[in-house]
Amino acid sequence: MTNQKQRVFSGIRPTGEIHLGNFLGSVNQWSELQNNYDCVFAVVDYHAITTTFESKELPKAIIETSKWIIASGVDQQKSLIILQSQIPEHTELAWILNCLTPLGELERMTQFKEKREQETAKSGIMAGLLNYPVLMASDILLYQTDLVPVGEDQVQHIELARDIAKRFNNRFGKVFTIPNYQLSKNARVMSLKNPTEKMSKTGDQGILLSDSAKEIERKIMGATTDTIASDQMSAGVKNLCNILQTVSPRTYSQMLEKYQKKTLQYLELKKVLAKELISYLLPIQKKYHQISDDQALEIFEKSRARAQSLAQKTLSRAKKTIGVL
Ligand code: AMP
Ligand code: TRP
Repeated sequence: MTNQKQRVFSGIRPTGEIHLGNFLGSVNQWSELQNNYDCVFAVVDYHAITTTFESKELPKAIIETSKWIIASGVDQQKSLIILQSQIPEHTELAWILNCLTPLGELERMTQFKEKREQETAKSGIMAGLLNYPVLMASDILLYQTDLVPVGEDQVQHIELARDIAKRFNNRFGKVFTIPNYQLSKNARVMSLKNPTEKMSKTGDQGILLSDSAKEIERKIMGATTDTIASDQMSAGVKNLCNILQTVSPRTYSQMLEKYQKKTLQYLELKKVLAKELISYLLPIQKKYHQISDDQALEIFEKSRARAQSLAQKTLSRAKKTIGVL
């Protein structure tokens, strides 16, 4: 009997800075999972070009994303860290899956609808944006993935990947493992300014991992809390509390106790959160600055051959099964 570990796959787009939502919602879990699973983590550069991008900025964004992954504790001795475009099997399988995915299912995706609005105002909508979830399904299915850690915004895409895999297996014969997703405690970190929307990297509503202590403090102090007095915890306060719960569970319990006794001042909550978040991020930021650009790129080289051989195996089976010689 083999006692193989289950496979985890996750990815992040190199679109410049990583924000606290990306980090707490996804990347932060990666280093924990690598002790119990066989992990493949990807910088998905072909996903980054599905929306308006600058060819001059992309290499820098890829390098920075790789550095944040390493700084967050992902260990290349334990996990494979890949650059999607270096493993052409991803796009090859994506083509096959594109030919087996109904157009209507892609047009229904929430992320497509949102990005379509944003892109219309920029350079127009490209076909790659519609096909984004199919490439994502290919990323996942190529490695016979059991579990995908993601933020809540990606759940619909994982469900689509499951449907694609099931349909393929039923029609042609079993090739793909059906993946499940795993949400973190912070599966939806909200905007500091408008806490009914999710945090992104733009403006003062989002904290970047690279933000200085001063910037973090300024952004937290400017966060929206309550506008009207109410017995229910407001979305803004809840968001601050959720972040605090992850970065300092002990202080979170203290704040919650005060909240329940109705003695919590939001100014105090913000000050405490700023302090705890700054010290939580500091070691990661320090490590980030110690990694050279060359080291960040070497990481991909080290994982490439092994990842490619795994990917190749699935792709050949998929091709053979559908009758491509
Ligand atoms: P992206 O930068 O869009 O490639 O996202 C990388 C990962 O971060 C995905 O797993 C997303 O679900 C997650 N993510 C992005 N924004 C947030 C957010 N505001 N809260 C929680 N997770 C997020
Ligand atoms: N679409 C994901 C995001 O925007 C990134 C991604 C691409 C991904 N391929 C993946 C995440 C495979 C998990 C698994 O966040």
